[in-house]
Amino acid sequence: MILKPKIVILGIETSCDDTSIAIVQDGVVLVNFITSQWIHKKYGGVVPEYASRFHVESIIELYEMAMQKADLRAEDIDAVAVTRGPGLLGSLMVGLSFAKSVCLSLNIPLIEVNHLHAHATSLFIDQQANYPLLCLTVSGGHTQLLYFKDASDFEVIGQTLDDAAGEAFDKTGKLMGLAYPAGPEMDKLAKQGIPQFQFPMAQVPKYNYSFSGLKTAVLYFLQEQQRKDPSFIERNLLDLCASIQSCIVKMLIQKLNKAAIDYKVKSIGIAGGVSANSELRAKLSELCEKNHLNIYLPSISYCTDNAAMIAYLGYLKYLKKDFADLSITALARYPLTQTL
Ligand code: KG4
Ligand code: ZN
Repeated sequence: MILKPKIVILGIETSCDDTSIAIVQDGVVLVNFITSQWIHKKYGGVVPEYASRFHVESIIELYEMAMQKADLRAEDIDAVAVTRGPGLLGSLMVGLSFAKSVCLSLNIPLIEVNHLHAHATSLFIDQQANYPLLCLTVSGGHTQLLYFKDASDFEVIGQTLDDAAGEAFDKTGKLMGLAYPAGPEMDKLAKQGIPQFQFPMAQVPKYNYSFSGLKTAVLYFLQEQQRKDPSFIERNLLDLCASIQSCIVKMLIQKLNKAAIDYKVKSIGIAGGVSANSELRAKLSELCEKNHLNIYLPSISYCTDNAAMIAYLGYLKYLKKDFADLSITALARYPLTQTL
């Protein structure tokens, strides 16, 4: 009996400040290596020029390590899936150029992936989906609510009108002196605090979000309190983190609840960096339990930027022979409109 050869997809993600290489074989993740760039902490945000340089420095080594871990040779790769956008142009171009060179040297197809589409698809890496389903993608650059009728038919039903949810964590955290990215630290500190401070929740139509007002409200509140007591932040850091986090999570859950009722879905999932947040996970679990809905929480390594989600979506596109031309360019803006 001749065994059907396995399909091996190399995934590459360099859209922002994480360099990641993954290998997916027949839809199963074999390796998912991610290197985070420490340099941006020093500047309180991502410095695009440094991000691109770091990708150039680390991508080859990461690729070699991934191939070694998966115990594969270059000739075993059937196609290369790469993030085309949205993201930082310089960073995207490093991953795209590397992907093209692998394709050229091995004479294999290139698969282009929309980063936001990949975040949403990360929900289904190790599990079967139960449709209709809502997916809230919450990251440092995006906040998007997707309605999936089934795997190949989805639409964007809401998004942020200004800052992304991750930005709300990062910017308010910065005001309190937390290092970039502030989300994970705020999550940790909030666990020990009480949400005693009230911040306004923006009222935005439909299933859209707005977080820039929160940042301004926190700024004015801190300025006023510090005038009276210069050590206000230091003395109240835990409660401030708990209060800000609670406000962000409430805004996210409120719209999810409304959309779940209006669209009569069977399941809700969250994806993107902020989906690692423990309060968001807990509140979503409550909501789903109360309404008898299935819940999809990606494992933490698939929440923040990673190439496993790129390779996995690449695998689904490979099955449909959805290949890209080697002349494609990176897209800083890449609205999610296409269906799979
Ligand atoms: O998806 P991601 O890695 O990159 C983008 O595509 O933006 O998301 C990064 C964002 C950052 O804003 C970071 O602060 C936030 O995800 N984040 C969190 C947590 N872990 C990461 N925010 C809140 N709680 C967390 N545990
Ligand atoms: Zn992302």
